[in-house]
Amino acid sequence: MLILGCSNSSELAGRISQELGGEVAEVEIKRFPDGEIYVRVVSDVKGKECAVVQSTPDNGSLVELILTLDLLRDLGASRIHAVVPYLGYCRQEKRFQDGEALSAKTVLKIIDSLSDSILTVNCHFLDAGGEFDFNGIKLKNIDAFPEIANYFKGKVESPFLIAPDEGSLELVKNSAGIVGCEFDSLEKERISGEEVKTEAKEMGVEGKDVIILDDAISTGNTIINAAKLVREQGAKSVSAGCVHGIFSNGLEKLKAAADEVVCTDTVQGDASRVSVAKLIAKELG
Ligand code: R5P
Repeated sequence: MLILGCSNSSELAGRISQELGGEVAEVEIKRFPDGEIYVRVVSDVKGKECAVVQSTPDNGSLVELILTLDLLRDLGASRIHAVVPYLGYCRQEKRFQDGEALSAKTVLKIIDSLSDSILTVNCHFLDAGGEFDFNGIKLKNIDAFPEIANYFKGKVESPFLIAPDEGSLELVKNSAGIVGCEFDSLEKERISGEEVKTEAKEMGVEGKDVIILDDAISTGNTIINAAKLVREQGAKSVSAGCVHGIFSNGLEKLKAAADEVVCTDTVQGDASRVSVAKLIAKELG
C-alpha cells in the first residue's frame, strides 16, 4: 500500500508507512499568493492501492484532502483510502437550531464520493471505536483513548481521571480501567464556541494526581475550567490529555493551568507525545 501524506499529517503518514514497512509517496503541495492550493502527486500511483493521510482542523487542510483524493482517481489509483485522523466539521452532525447546515454530513459526503473507504480517529460525534453508518456513509472510527491512558499509566502516584463533560464520560471510564484508578465527570454547558461554563461539584480529588481527558482540546477553556475546579479542591497535580490537540488559542494558558498537556499526533504539534500510527497501520494492513 502506498501512503500519501498531505501537509497536516505528513509526519504521521511517515510513521504509518514505517509501521507497514512500505513507502511514502512524494506529494508536492504549495499555496498560490491568493491562498489557492496546488497539489501534485509525483510518485507513480497507477494501479496502486493508496491511503491519503490528512487531518482537517482547518479549511485549507480539507481542500488539500479533496484535491488529493480526486487526483488519485484521475491518476488511476486502484483503491483509495481516506485516512482522516482528525475529521473537522464534526461538531455539527445534527441541527441544534432550525436552518443549520449539517456540516459533518456534507464534508463526509464529499470525502466518501472521492474514496473507497474512510478511516478516522475519535470522530467527535461517535463515542466508541468500530464501523458506523452515518447518513448512508460508511466510516471506521478508531478509539485512541487507550493510547493516552497508557501514556499516563504508572506515571503518577495517585491517579484520578476526570471527564470534563458528559460527552467524554464513557471513554474516560474505559481509560480509568486501563490506568487502574477512580474517575468522575463534570457537567459543562457551552455558551459559545469560545465560552464554556462548568458546574462546580465535589469530587474527592484532594491529594490526587488528577488527569483530565477529553477527545479534543480546541480553545482549551473546557480543560482550564476543570483544572481550576480540581486545584481548588486540593488536587496534588493536574495533567490534561486528549486525542486531538487543536489548541486554537495556543498552549500557553493551558500550560499555566495544567502541569502537563499531552495529545496524540492526529494533529501534529508540540504536545503530540503519543502516536496513533500503530492503530491506523493495523487497520490499513
Ligand atoms: C466537546 O464536546 C469536546 O469533547 C471538547 O470538550 C471540546 O471540543 C473542547 O473545546 P474547548 O477546548 O474549546 O473548550
